[in-house]
This record gives sequence, C-alpha cells and structure tokens, in this order.
Amino acid sequence: MSTPHNSANPGDFAKTVLMPGDPLRAQFIAEQFLTEPRLVNRVRGINGYTGTWKGVPVSVMASGMGMPSIGIYSHELYNFYGVENIIRVGTAGGMSMRCKLRDVVLGIGACTNSNYAAGFGITGHFAPTADYTLLRCAADIAQKNGLHVEVGNLLSSDNFYDDDPHAKDVWQKMGVLAVEMEAAALYMNAARAGKRALAICTISDHLLTGEATDAQTRQTSFCDMMRLALDVAAEMANV
Ligand code: HPA
Repeated sequence: MSTPHNSANPGDFAKTVLMPGDPLRAQFIAEQFLTEPRLVNRVRGINGYTGTWKGVPVSVMASGMGMPSIGIYSHELYNFYGVENIIRVGTAGGMSMRCKLRDVVLGIGACTNSNYAAGFGITGHFAPTADYTLLRCAADIAQKNGLHVEVGNLLSSDNFYDDDPHAKDVWQKMGVLAVEMEAAALYMNAARAGKRALAICTISDHLLTGEATDAQTRQTSFCDMMRLALDVAAEMANV
C-alpha cells in the first residue's frame, strides 16, 4: 500500500528513519554512509533510501521544510509503514550563547509558535518532547565519542522571515537554545502514534552573533551529526 506522498511498499522502511530537511542531503547520507542503499520512494523528489549501517537496517528520507511538511511524512512513516523511531537531522539558528556555530544540539523539548497542536483537539498547551530513550542514547554515544553536544529547548517556528526583527527575543529570554522549523510537529506526531522521535540539529547560523557557516564547514559538522544519528539508529535495534 502506498500513500498520497510515498510510493514505498510495506516493509520498505527500516525501524529507524533519519530525516534531514533537504532531499539532496538524504541522497548524500544514503550514498556516503549506508551500505547497499535502495531507493524506496521518489514522490515529489522526496527520495527515501533503505540500507544498512554497522549491519543494522536504517532508512533516510527528507522531511521538506516546515511543520506541515514533516507532519505529513512522519505521520505516514509512523502510521502506515510501521516506523518506530524518527531522528530529525537538521540545521538550526543559535539563539543562546550556550551554543556556538557548528555545535550539535539535542532538542529535549520543542516550543512552537504554530497552531499544529489544534489538529489533535488540544485546547490547552501540549509540551512536545523528545523520546527519553533516543535522547539518552544520543547523549551517551556523543560522550563516548568525545563529541560535544548541548541539550535543551528548541523553537519550531512557522516563520523563517519575521517581520519584527525582535520576534524571537521572548524565546531567547526563556532559555531556548536554537530555532528551526520542524521538531515540534515531529514530537507531536510521535506522541500521538505512541512512537519515538528526536531532533538533532547543527547550528548553521547564529542569531545573536550574526555568524553563518560556509558550505564546506556545514558539510563537515553535518557529518559528525549524521554519524551520531546513525549510531543511535544502530543502538535502537536492541531496544
Ligand atoms: N531560522 C529557522 N530555521 C533555521 C534557521 C533559522 O535561523 N537556521 C537554520 N534553520
């Protein structure tokens, strides 16, 4: 059975799927890291691949940009393809001096300015959080490998371009580490489906210092994050 946005067959996706925002990143991960990657979806250019990492089946498919996009793809993976774990691997804008350019951030929570939660009939405020097992596993592996990670709150924003240049100041005052555009929807979909999710982000630009990474640096720090996410996926085979 395929879905409106995914032509893969049942069983094509592994238990754990890594989701970068960019389809070309998904292809890069599949070609550089996975053994014998197999193309399982190509609807709308959102190519999905399944291969192995350290002998464990792992899939990678792009999420596209923003909460509606990751909302669609993660819903279908969790509910129609039997996927148990989704690890977002993306970039984020630093909002705290606790994180520097190129740092890797594990999103323990994801605040949001979006109305996505209303789709679940929630009238109060749901707190979208990472799965503790995935989060602990990622923090443990990073420590073992000597990779520095910051763990804290993300902001999943509906707006990349804010009309008000100070729109994000309130989140910064609340100690939010970094802004991206997908984690909160992923965490809510995982909660609703009774599945696991984690967002891992590399700081690609910094809102406080105005710094931004060049393409080469982005690629290198992205690979550190990728190996971390793949090692978490391998570890989850035993959970
Ligand atoms: N805003 C939103 N998403 C992002 C940013 C940003 O500044 N940087 C990387 N992803």
